[in-house]
Amino acid sequence: MKKRIAIFASGSGSNAQKIMEHFKRSSEAEVVLILTNNPQAYVLQRADNFEIPSHIFSRHEFYETDGIIRLLKNLQVDLIVLAGFLWLVPANLLKAFPNKIINLHPALLPKYGGKGMYGDHVHKAVLEAKEEESGITIHFVNEKFDEGEILHQSRFKIEPGDNLEMIKFKGQQLEHQHFPRVIESLLKKMKS
Ligand code: GAR
Repeated sequence: MKKRIAIFASGSGSNAQKIMEHFKRSSEAEVVLILTNNPQAYVLQRADNFEIPSHIFSRHEFYETDGIIRLLKNLQVDLIVLAGFLWLVPANLLKAFPNKIINLHPALLPKYGGKGMYGDHVHKAVLEAKEEESGITIHFVNEKFDEGEILHQSRFKIEPGDNLEMIKFKGQQLEHQHFPRVIESLLKKMKS
């Protein structure tokens, strides 16, 4: 049986798109559900384009009920992927899917992680610190923001004169290139 992936995303969903593309013709795994807290998120359109069901949830449902756990269990989800999802994952969800939730972060953790460190805030901090390199991190999710075990990092050089857009672009290229591949190799290692 194919491994089953659920993706949480709050915004554009360009990474969700790459993952859906990657597994569209795979015999190993498939994306079975897109979940979002944001009814305006463009990721919903992307899910529709791939004819993949989506679920919009509220803060109440996420933090105060078991509704999402039941939904994911009913769909027999093997791996939960956070791709631009900004809420802290609650303990009941972590417990229901131990070592089965991974996140993508747009910097080289442990630097530039933690609450409030997402999207452009991360790239701004990297620029202000005059770092010579940045990158991406894919890591397991635990009860703290951006602190779970690291699965993969890729890095790029920051050239003199690189602005926020340039850093963001270089990071995005790496994300799109590596995230689907890292998910695939993790799924291969996971026992069924
Ligand atoms: C990605 O760059 C991801 O690394 C970042 O959000 C972006 C989502 O882009 N995640 C975080 O900042 C999490 N702390 P996308 O919606 O186009 O995939």
